[in-house]
Amino acid sequence: MWKKTMAAAILLLTSFQISQASINKVQHAPDSVYLFSYATTHDDGRSGLRFAYSIDQKNWLEVGRNYGYVRCDYGRWGSQKKMLDPILKQMPNGEWYCTWKLNERDGYGHVSSKDLLYWGRQSYNSTNPLVNEKKVTAFVAGKEETGSLNRTAWSVIEGLIKTYEANQYRNELHGELMEQDGTRFAGLKPLSAILTAQPEQSKPISELLVGIFFEDINYAADGGLYAELIQNRDFEYALSDKEGHDKNWNSSHSWKLVITNQASKETANDATFTIDTAVPLHPNNPHYALLSVSTAANAALINEGFDGIALKKGERYDFSLFGKVVKGKGGKLRIRLLGKEQQVLGETTIYVGSKAWKQSKAVLIAKADAADATLSIEPQEAGSYALDLISLFPQKTFKNRKNGLRADLAQTLADMHPRFMRFPGGCVAHGDGIDNIYRWKNTIGPLEARKPQRNLWGYHQTAGLGYYEYFQFCEDIGAEPLPVLAAGVPCQNSAHTATCKGGQQGGIPMNEMGAYVQEILDLIEWANGDAKTTKWGKVRAQAGHPKPFNLKYIGIGNEDLITDIFEERFTLIFNAIKEKYPEIVVIGNTGPAAEGTDYTEGWNLATKLNVPIVDEHYYQPPGWFIHNQEYYDKYSRNKSKVYLGEYASHVPGRKTNMETALSEALYMTALERNGDIVSMSSYAPLLAKEKRTQWNPNLIYFNNQEVKPTTGYYVQQLYGQNAGDTYIGSQLSVNNDNDGVKKRVAVSIVKDSRTNDIIVKLVNLLPVSVDTKVKLSGMGILSGVATRTVLSGRPTDKPLPITDTMQVSDCFDYQIPPYSFTVIRIKGSL
Ligand code: AHR
Repeated sequence: MWKKTMAAAILLLTSFQISQASINKVQHAPDSVYLFSYATTHDDGRSGLRFAYSIDQKNWLEVGRNYGYVRCDYGRWGSQKKMLDPILKQMPNGEWYCTWKLNERDGYGHVSSKDLLYWGRQSYNSTNPLVNEKKVTAFVAGKEETGSLNRTAWSVIEGLIKTYEANQYRNELHGELMEQDGTRFAGLKPLSAILTAQPEQSKPISELLVGIFFEDINYAADGGLYAELIQNRDFEYALSDKEGHDKNWNSSHSWKLVITNQASKETANDATFTIDTAVPLHPNNPHYALLSVSTAANAALINEGFDGIALKKGERYDFSLFGKVVKGKGGKLRIRLLGKEQQVLGETTIYVGSKAWKQSKAVLIAKADAADATLSIEPQEAGSYALDLISLFPQKTFKNRKNGLRADLAQTLADMHPRFMRFPGGCVAHGDGIDNIYRWKNTIGPLEARKPQRNLWGYHQTAGLGYYEYFQFCEDIGAEPLPVLAAGVPCQNSAHTATCKGGQQGGIPMNEMGAYVQEILDLIEWANGDAKTTKWGKVRAQAGHPKPFNLKYIGIGNEDLITDIFEERFTLIFNAIKEKYPEIVVIGNTGPAAEGTDYTEGWNLATKLNVPIVDEHYYQPPGWFIHNQEYYDKYSRNKSKVYLGEYASHVPGRKTNMETALSEALYMTALERNGDIVSMSSYAPLLAKEKRTQWNPNLIYFNNQEVKPTTGYYVQQLYGQNAGDTYIGSQLSVNNDNDGVKKRVAVSIVKDSRTNDIIVKLVNLLPVSVDTKVKLSGMGILSGVATRTVLSGRPTDKPLPITDTMQVSDCFDYQIPPYSFTVIRIKGSL
């Protein structure tokens, strides 16, 4: 392709040399050419800096079709990342320097490159040293564009074109989908293969390889894993919670006043529900409800829960609220659970009689199952009542913890046998702007003292599921806790708004970084400090956990833009932890992709600082996973280790099915093979509430009553339940020479030294079966019965795994079904 393009260019060049005598007068060396750089105004420069070349400044050839070589990474995903009026200049030292306008207000972006291919760190400020550089116009691909004119060597153009073509080629491979398999594998007959274990090539692998990534996205926490049934229990929902500022997102969200008898409907003012802030329960929780009734028993304050309240017949629910009497003598409040037809599903009363805030509690027993009950609070005496932190909690939570987790969802996570749990994000950890950074101290202690905040995913976060609950859950399921804290910078995708700059916003000011670093050190003390002798250890103990949580890992930063601003802050935090808590393993990060500037700069920084582990993220199409199984085989064994913290296979339409699940299963054989340097991995995101999702696909969908694991969930579960600590080398020979065929069959053999079990995983992404002779000699395997679990189905299916047993010996036959993932677990006692 490159040759063809060059030939066309040379032909064009020659014809112009012949037809336009003036060109012959050009002073430049014949091995150089005009380079025009621009960002098309048709998409506000969102596709980045493009190039065209010409020998005469009249006829321009586009380098790549609509291809941007560097894009602006400032502001909100998509619409805000604009490259307006870019100016490119080659500096006296030979480096290329590019500046562009970010928007009408926030200044300019800056980036430089040695070769126009690899672009370094971006920075953003109010200056533009190239503002007076001359701009030119050129017709490229039929459109008039404005940009900069430079002169460069042909070899530079050649490099640009080759890069473009290589990308096109890779995109083709990565775009391979199973729907094309009919054509791709037309005529392919069932295959045969020999899998030979090579125990002499065994190596220890990480015991933490498969874990979970929890983020409060898609209502994963409030309305999800956190078992609270009342929405906006603290009246802290705010207009700003909702992106675009929906006026329904105010302190009354999910609540309404209903007049319950005819007499007072005619005098509706007899009952009012307003929001007050005069004397709050806690400064972190300034809003509360003021419920006033003039006629006893005429009005009800109703909460609709998170898309209704789900109840289970016979189960007990803890009701509580903080109340005080503002006017009147106080009295009973009738508390009822009402079904869709207003039938009473549970009833109790509490008494509010104090002039100061006081908590009242009662228990409701559900009379019937319900999907969408509401909670009704009905004063029985006239007066004004201040009410706050109105809570309804099932007594049956996971492990019956108070302020605990929804039992069925938590159990689904526990069933994965995750070796660690990352929390609270994702982007929630570093937040949408500096003021939105997740601060762990706001999420511990009494619920009324916790500080709720806007969730970056466009809803409200109560912090009811806070650091204490995360650590407790990790302990309950035997997973290492892995808190991830912002590296002093918010998300690079932070929005720029009328009042606030976007992107990293300069990070937390350096004069405030000392306090921020201390906050991180305090977390380690809170988790691990002695309950009697340390300040934060005491706080943990007071909350009910005198024993240390035994924190070993801490993530600093989440797929950040690796800039000077990031480096300065990350280095401060990293060094402070290393000095005070050398035993804590710090996990750094390498940006949001499997390659590119942040990846390279992140790795350079990690290598420079000797960061023990780096967090890599990539969401890719199935073809990427198929064609990148050697990704970690190439990694140095002497550098930082890897935590693959977020990954998932994405098909067009972002569904999950056999195709996505199998490409993940295939890739996970490579993770096990590289388990000596890949220390941890977690699919992302984990949870999504139906009809409340901001992101697809996710591993587990749910509604108020059901949990719906995806096929990808079963892949993760099978890996989690069948993890090993030793990787057994093996060789797989398939009777087909086609690379595209061979790459679609993968195996991994591991040993779990706790049980001595040998686990063989076989993945087949082909439409045909593979008759496999499995040779496990030299591993002490005698004839016996093994457990076999198979996931198989068509690419668009969403099958469940089927488990049975099979006869094995040190050499046995197994037919790997088309499109399948098999786990054979051979008991160590065999
Ligand atoms: O997993 C969803 C999001 O993907 C995470 O919040 C973020 O880290 C990544 O971009």
